[in-house]
Amino acid sequence: MEMDYRSLADLDKSFVWHPFTQMSEWAEHDPIIIEEGLGCFIKDTQGRWYLDGVSSLWVNIFGHRKKEIDDAVKGQLDKIAHSTLLGLGGKPSILLAARLVALLGQTLKAETRQPLTRVFYSDNGSTAVEVALKMAFQYWLQKGVTGRNAFLSLNMAYHGDTLGAVAVGGVDIFHGTFKPLLFTTYKSPAPYCYRCALGLEKDSCKMACLMEMEKILQEHSGEIAAVIIEPKMQAAGGMIAAPEGFLSGVARLCTKYGVLLIADEIATGFGRTGQMFACCAEGVVPDIICLSKGLTGGYMPLAVTVATDEIYNAFLGEFSQMRQFFHGHSYTGNALGCAAALAVIDLFDKEDVLNRLRPKIEILNNWLKKLLRLSHVGDVRAAGFMAGIELVKNKETRQAYPTEDKMGWRVALDVRDKGVFLRPLGNCIVIMPPLSISEDNLRAMIGRTEQSIIKVTDPRPLTS
Ligand SMILES: Cc1ncc(COP(=O)(O)O)c(C=O)c1O
Repeated sequence: MEMDYRSLADLDKSFVWHPFTQMSEWAEHDPIIIEEGLGCFIKDTQGRWYLDGVSSLWVNIFGHRKKEIDDAVKGQLDKIAHSTLLGLGGKPSILLAARLVALLGQTLKAETRQPLTRVFYSDNGSTAVEVALKMAFQYWLQKGVTGRNAFLSLNMAYHGDTLGAVAVGGVDIFHGTFKPLLFTTYKSPAPYCYRCALGLEKDSCKMACLMEMEKILQEHSGEIAAVIIEPKMQAAGGMIAAPEGFLSGVARLCTKYGVLLIADEIATGFGRTGQMFACCAEGVVPDIICLSKGLTGGYMPLAVTVATDEIYNAFLGEFSQMRQFFHGHSYTGNALGCAAALAVIDLFDKEDVLNRLRPKIEILNNWLKKLLRLSHVGDVRAAGFMAGIELVKNKETRQAYPTEDKMGWRVALDVRDKGVFLRPLGNCIVIMPPLSISEDNLRAMIGRTEQSIIKVTDPRPLTS
């Protein structure tokens, strides 16, 4: 049905409730309405193209309308779109599980750790986390260990918006409201070196935040089913990049205190940090890994929670024992999503994605370093091809811009007029284009972002 922009905008305002959006403000402006995409660009209904600078919320890897993924989904549509995994197998979900286990086995190896071998499907990042939490909890019960009713997570963590994921979250503005509904979690300080919760400096702190985690484990490990972390980069909490050694330190503590480690690689998996998985960087093999977003190249809502045989085996038994995992969704193992994911894994090899990403990571890092000369750029943080730029009101004192200044939004709106779509996290400008972006488009994107940062934060003429 053809419909003009005005009618669509009015219908949007009348009927669509947008996520994480103050709808009374939304209603005051005319929204951009997307109807098409090609490569790293998205086009609105009025014919304007925007560079998709946040990969459609961190999901897109190969750009929009990637032929191989389009063909895989269309091919699957000619067979079947969806059938249930409750009581039936499905060809694409079988093939994908085998490919994922092989990929995880090739990339995440450690002599003393079990490989990740058992794939449980769900629909999105939050459900993948929900599955991991319930799996860890039920695992201990079935090992005959009771009392492990809590989890340990980091301050400023973001693991999704379902209630279990919110319980292990640590971003007060997103999660605080729901506190009365949440189960017990222990919170350890985030490795947020720019604003260290312990008041220390990175060069001399000896990662005291890990020692804080150890103190919690010393006291409470008997109550803790698992530690859950976002390896290398706490993304939605404000792009907080962990210093080298933090991730492997957490893994060591989990082994030492006998608690499971859940790696939430929903944002970091599938090449985003420059390696296939963020855990690769420090040789960490978790007990459970959560993957989504890039899994289907940004095409379909699909997620997996992959566990070791040790965990899986604890769920085996006689029918009457009722030891099966009590979880499942209507769209579990969706055939279209699995077909897209199989094409994505093929493309990683075919297009030598990780090697071709290296020069782009270098361009990004060089630019970030240069940005630090700007008078309102307090800190820059990156893990491979995901980066955050923290804007501050006062660089010397690290004073943050107050929320009502909407500084991140003002930069995002300014750069939108220059043809780049960004979505900030508070005062943090997030840079996360598709991995396939060309070097020229990357340079254009960061150049325009820099112009907008200067224009919005420091409108005085530059003296040098
Ligand atoms: C690390 C991490 N975990 C979980 C989620 C939740 O994923 P979803 O939005 O698909 O539920 C996100 C989303 O940004 C994420 O970054």
